[in-house]
Amino acid sequence: MWIFVLTQTLSRSTAPLLLAWYDRHARDLPWRIRPVKGQQLSADPYRVWLSEIMLQQTTVTAVKPYYEKFLSLWPSVADLASAEDEAVMVAWAGLGYYSRARNLLKCARTVMSEFSGQFPETASELQKLPGIGPYTAAAVAAIAFRDPVAVVDGNVERVVTRLLAIEQPLPQAKELVRSALQPIIPTERPGDLAQASMDLGATLCSPKRPACSLCPLHENCLAFSVGTQERFPVKLPKTKKPTRKGAAFVLVRDDEQIWLQKRGPNGLLADMTEVPTTNWSSRQDGETSVIAAPCTADWKNAGQIRHTFTHFHLELSVYSAAQNSQAGSSTALTSPPDLGWWSDLDTLNEEALPNLMRKVIACAL
Ligand code: ADE
Repeated sequence: MWIFVLTQTLSRSTAPLLLAWYDRHARDLPWRIRPVKGQQLSADPYRVWLSEIMLQQTTVTAVKPYYEKFLSLWPSVADLASAEDEAVMVAWAGLGYYSRARNLLKCARTVMSEFSGQFPETASELQKLPGIGPYTAAAVAAIAFRDPVAVVDGNVERVVTRLLAIEQPLPQAKELVRSALQPIIPTERPGDLAQASMDLGATLCSPKRPACSLCPLHENCLAFSVGTQERFPVKLPKTKKPTRKGAAFVLVRDDEQIWLQKRGPNGLLADMTEVPTTNWSSRQDGETSVIAAPCTADWKNAGQIRHTFTHFHLELSVYSAAQNSQAGSSTALTSPPDLGWWSDLDTLNEEALPNLMRKVIACAL
């Protein structure tokens, strides 16, 4: 039996219309080189790569200050490759998905040691580097090296599934989107087309109430022609995230220092800094009561915080206790002393504390 799969194609006017719109409306983003006279200008591969890694799962607004900080600390891939691991984790703290930061360093070091400091120029070569998946490889290749590859992120999925009224749900629709885009990539401006589609998705072609009347592509949009734009992209029903529980312990000395320690090398928030917590994970609850405190102290219940990870919510009961700095008290802690230290409350921003831990500490103080 023959099965025909219809490949939907985008109108030939799509790329010129989108690029003309981008020439006038491209967002000013710190990592972006805006087109001049309809030309895609060269962009620094290091900056493009750094921004694309940071933008995975994260909003443009959240990324901007981190991007500026990284560039001022480490202006080139050579600078980043020779940075201390801990300094990079501290600079990344708060941006989430910490394996990205570890892979960032690995990748910078590989580019220095195996590629003489030059990023490879095609998506297929880039994808062999640590932390670079198909999306990032395509984005860096198209934006920094004009490799004519389709770049498909969530915004682009929304734009193209609407243009073609693609009924397949995500994630299967992703491949249809990619193959619909590939034939219309202009060889001179693949990176601009990618960023134009991202900007259109981030501005006019929004998930709810898209501004179709302002959209340069509305005459080419199948969903708009029948008024079904908000139905796309079709998504499978979401599975409900479980809520995990645990407890966190904030020990505060009278000289304004708190006890911190380093998490283990595996699992969630690996190698990041924390206050002692019980053994929660994405699969199991940890102990929630004060019984599990890491040392004897006058623990008080300071409240509860809630934090959402990709696959689960976490509710931590927060306990705090005051300690006398003269008491030689760190020996009372059950965690190995080499894993912990006292840290000044005034300079907590110099610690690799994830947002979860910042919430816990704020709740306790
Ligand atoms: N999201 C991810 N990369 C982007 C880029 N280069 N421009 C706009 N939005 C993006």
